[in-house]
Amino acid sequence: MPSNSSDSQSSPIRKASFGHEPVLLGEVLKAIAPKDGGVYLDCTFGGGGHARAILNSANCKVVAIDRDPAAAERAKAFEAEFPGRFQFFAGEFSKLNELNCGGYAGILMDLGVSSFQLDEIGRGFSFRGAGPIDMRMDFSKGQTALEFIESSPLETLEKAIREYGEEPRYKKAARALKDAASAGALKTTLDLASVLEKALPKKIGSKIHPATLVFQALRIAVNDELGQAEEALPKAFERLSKGGVLAVITFHSLEDRLVKRFFKKMAGRPVDNNDSSSVQDRVKLAEILTRKPLTASAEEISQNPRSRSAKLRALMKI
Ligand SMILES: C[S@@+](CC[C@H](N)C(=O)[O-])C[C@H]1O[C@@H](n2cnc3c(N)ncnc32)[C@H](O)[C@@H]1O
Repeated sequence: MPSNSSDSQSSPIRKASFGHEPVLLGEVLKAIAPKDGGVYLDCTFGGGGHARAILNSANCKVVAIDRDPAAAERAKAFEAEFPGRFQFFAGEFSKLNELNCGGYAGILMDLGVSSFQLDEIGRGFSFRGAGPIDMRMDFSKGQTALEFIESSPLETLEKAIREYGEEPRYKKAARALKDAASAGALKTTLDLASVLEKALPKKIGSKIHPATLVFQALRIAVNDELGQAEEALPKAFERLSKGGVLAVITFHSLEDRLVKRFFKKMAGRPVDNNDSSSVQDRVKLAEILTRKPLTASAEEISQNPRSRSAKLRALMKI
């Protein structure tokens, strides 16, 4: 963790924690606008880059959540660094209503995985080294990605790869994974990548490895990322005080759609063109602050390529 906290304030794009650069930091601070005395909820602590910037912006408190035991370890240093101003809860943000806290002036969800998780080969999120085929954010429970491949019917695997990976060759990919798993050929993430490379030859002009989208799909499925977000959004809104802001960063179109629809519903607007709910049924509880999602500047993308697909939406409770 950097000791010079003012650095992350004056140049929000700059690294605020080793290993993970918080994305859209300036935009998040602008949306949440931390104030003295306010209590803010960071649902996705990760490396604490956003939490640190909020704590450095005002004499406020931050309550943080993360389901990754490694993030819980990092949070211990925050508790010591910000005595009385920082509290951490280990677990899923979909259970945020179980915390004995509320009346938040701002809530942040920075969805997806952290660079800490992606870069740690032993977590199995990446094929840059031979890791276990795991991909669980909370490695203390649930099914690993290999168990998911082995236990899922072919159709379930196809659906996950099609929807979460948006991989058009999902049928070929799922079949190859099932065959390789039955043959006992999937020992490491490198095996997984090589099976996918054979099944899905690289398309001319494609900049990504053929396994990339399938890895993403498996990760989203294993961690039930969409289910978690869907469950958490109304709970977060409920815990927000009037005038409080809910800011959500997504990295996947399905996630962004989920957030967009939820925000429209809270703003008393039809969620899409097919919304048949009557005007009387719609209640305006919030103001959407971002007509279009905010995205990273060219400067941020050049410093942190991971920010390329980030989208920030913000909503104010009225
Ligand atoms: C993109 S990172 C957040 C990075 C953080 N904003 C920062 O500045 O370092 C997402 C984090 O959220 C956590 N996470 C994802 N889904 C979660 C969930 N459903 N419940 C709790 N934590 C979750 C992940 O473990 C990961 O550490």
